[in-house]
Amino acid sequence: MKWRIRTMLTKRLAACAAQVTPAGVVCDVGTDHAYLPAELLQSGRCTRAVATDIHAGPLEAARRTLTEAGVLEQAELFLCDGLEQVQPAGITDVVIAGMGGETIVHILENCPWRRQVHLILQPMTKIPDLRLWLAQQGFGWSEQVVQEGKKFYVILSARHTGTVRTLSPLEQEIGCVDWQSESVRRYAGWKQQRFQKLAQQLEQAGRAEAADWAALAQAIQEKL
Ligand SMILES: C[S@@+](CC[C@H](N)C(=O)[O-])C[C@H]1O[C@@H](n2cnc3c(N)ncnc32)[C@H](O)[C@@H]1O
Repeated sequence: MKWRIRTMLTKRLAACAAQVTPAGVVCDVGTDHAYLPAELLQSGRCTRAVATDIHAGPLEAARRTLTEAGVLEQAELFLCDGLEQVQPAGITDVVIAGMGGETIVHILENCPWRRQVHLILQPMTKIPDLRLWLAQQGFGWSEQVVQEGKKFYVILSARHTGTVRTLSPLEQEIGCVDWQSESVRRYAGWKQQRFQKLAQQLEQAGRAEAADWAALAQAIQEKL
């Protein structure tokens, strides 16, 4: 019996799925249970999907999900690091979600066709480093913040434009965001408190960086 995956997509993954080009071909890197490609194929948003994972266990789980969803024939699975074994032909969107920013940079650095596709990136850590890398590599992007309970997730939708640019400390730490968005404002408020606390701790320890973090907290305050 075919079953719908839709209910299994968390708000975070649903937000990533919503960014995928309609009628496109998605490549989900670090797919784990393949919930994202399964949903995109079942809903008809994608005609074909590629899914990779560096570990055999998750890839087996991916195969099970795609089989149970009745869409295995439309999918290709690769056991590899990032996009190493993937041929770019036809792929419109690459999703890399639920991984550290440094792993995402590593995967993209090793992909010679990264400039040809729409990138949907959902880093869990080192987000400023990822933003810096994208800016230096000539990518332009927009960001959204998704909240699940007390957790915030940042999703970047990036394309290569060829324009290399520098980022302000605010753009590096909070991102290129829509400050009118409710979830962005909640996220920025939470970050502002963290930066303010950090500035106080550094000041007490007599560290010079205290001023940078205090300035960042102030810059966020002015945006809110
Ligand atoms: C936390 S899960 C995220 C799963 C899914 N993408 C999501 O966002 O819910 C991370 C997955 O990425 C895989 N992974 C980690 N590093 C990888 C790499 N360099 N290339 C491919 N897959 C990787 C792990 O094996 C794991 O299945």
